[in-house]
Amino acid sequence: VPAGVRDLLLGRIRDVADYPVPGVMFKDITPLLADPEAFKVLTETLADICVQRGATKVVGLEARGFILAAPVAVSAGLGFVPVRKAGKLPGATLAQSYELEYGTAEMEVHAEDLASEDRVLIIDDVLATGGTAEASLQLVRRAGAHVTGIAVLMELGFLGGRDRLKPALRDAPLDAL
Ligand code: PRP
Repeated sequence: VPAGVRDLLLGRIRDVADYPVPGVMFKDITPLLADPEAFKVLTETLADICVQRGATKVVGLEARGFILAAPVAVSAGLGFVPVRKAGKLPGATLAQSYELEYGTAEMEVHAEDLASEDRVLIIDDVLATGGTAEASLQLVRRAGAHVTGIAVLMELGFLGGRDRLKPALRDAPLDAL
């Protein structure tokens, strides 16, 4: 992204020390969301990526990914598909569990929301360890659709998510704004 966009977005992300537990520096995106210019620029930048990749659907990851992905879908003229934490979707779902530092977590998608002709851009706010993104890649592919890329606002590089994702990404680009 252009340096001006990067600086605008970075300037609206607030560091909160010792949240949610001591020793963690939390990246709070609420100042960015509350700033109409920054939120619009973020939405347009992600919508441009949809166009570049020929996306036909936008997948957002619960919960903060929803906030970013839904306006991108509207802006790009595409449908929005939620990937949710287990037990929240009422219809027939595909489920994918993934490893956390301690234990496992599970994400789900409505199988009927994605079709074999779909090209999907997956959007989330943060790539940390990469577990959530990896599970989402697998869900989209298991639904029969093509992953045309993953786009996140922030990548916490020191957590190694990009390396973890590399095998699962295959040819899909990972963009961190
Ligand atoms: C955060 C973030 C990503 C995920 C990244 O979500 O929004 O979805 O963690 O972590 P990972 O790369 O290590 O998987 P969180 O589960 O905190 O939920 P929320 O968006 O519902 O607050």
